[in-house]
Amino acid sequence: MRVIGIETSCDETAVAVYDAARGLLAHRLYSQIPLHRAYGGVVPELASRDHVRRLLPLVREALADAGTDRRTIDGVAYTAGPGLIGALLVGAGFARSLAYAWERPVVPVHHLEGHLLAPLLEADAPGFPFLALLVSGGHTQLVDVRGLGDYRILGESLDDAAGEAFDKTAKLLGLPYPGGAALARLAETGRPGRFVFPRPMLDRGGLDFSFSGLKTAALVALRGRLLDDETRADVARAFEDAVVDTLAEKSRRALEATGRRSLVLAGGVGANRRLRERLREVARASGAALHVPRPEFCTDNGAMIALAGCMRLQTGAHRDVSITARAAWELGGQLTGV
Ligand code: KG4
Ligand code: ZN
Repeated sequence: MRVIGIETSCDETAVAVYDAARGLLAHRLYSQIPLHRAYGGVVPELASRDHVRRLLPLVREALADAGTDRRTIDGVAYTAGPGLIGALLVGAGFARSLAYAWERPVVPVHHLEGHLLAPLLEADAPGFPFLALLVSGGHTQLVDVRGLGDYRILGESLDDAAGEAFDKTAKLLGLPYPGGAALARLAETGRPGRFVFPRPMLDRGGLDFSFSGLKTAALVALRGRLLDDETRADVARAFEDAVVDTLAEKSRRALEATGRRSLVLAGGVGANRRLRERLREVARASGAALHVPRPEFCTDNGAMIALAGCMRLQTGAHRDVSITARAAWELGGQLTGV
């Protein structure tokens, strides 16, 4: 079973080829960051237009990298949501057309399912069931993953996602879009303890999160101060420490509550070095193992979509009738046509 995966939910155009027996054969990604930088964030219309330009060359390159051609492909998987609707529709229409021309089934994939399964791309893949901390630009969730498509959300952010909080705070610090990774780099030089921000929701039971207050804490800390490099780095450090502490403690509680022996860290914020280190400690102390994809498979990529599509196709679940895409789509919810 061999599947080509297409990801266009936001500002990355990505294509990959995954083979059930041999693993990942090729993955290509084109980042639109330079295109959106001048605007300080993703411009949806520009994103859609650029996906149109990039998809076909990326498919050709991925097939060439995999040393194969379309005849060996058994299915076409694409991200059907959640994401920017225009960008999703480009991927959906493109995938449907490829599948039609190649006479293969088309498999719509939930973007978050792709993130959740991304650690299965690595050599030390976890087996089901596992607990997952999913931290991306749009979502922050603790998910009990009992099997393919069997997800129980244990907790989630009541306001900003962790990645969104990183990006907004980065903007306050004068860092260019996308700010999350840049803030993390700045925090490396910051002194811990000069500023101390709250650890939201840790004083309450439950596994929900809230990150919007941290942006305000950063704003208050910066107010009236000279924005020298040291101060910016110290604020970045205080912010990152607060987010990492909160995510680590809630993950510890979720491990305790579920008794799971594998903890998965997934989504773009999973690329954060300090978070990876802390979660490894948390897992070890709880008698669990941490599984985290390499950083490039934490952030958006086509490999996770090809993998998830391949697993879905193997279970026989695929649609080949309508083009489906949803801007908002809860994990486990029904996918309906446009
Ligand atoms: O999963 P992802 O690529 O896209 C979504 O599905 O949202 O996640 C993107 C998010 C952005 O908010 C970005 O700032 C954040 O992941 N991010 C990071 C790091 N690298 C990416 N946040 C903190 N530290 C990083 N190293
Ligand atoms: Zn994502």
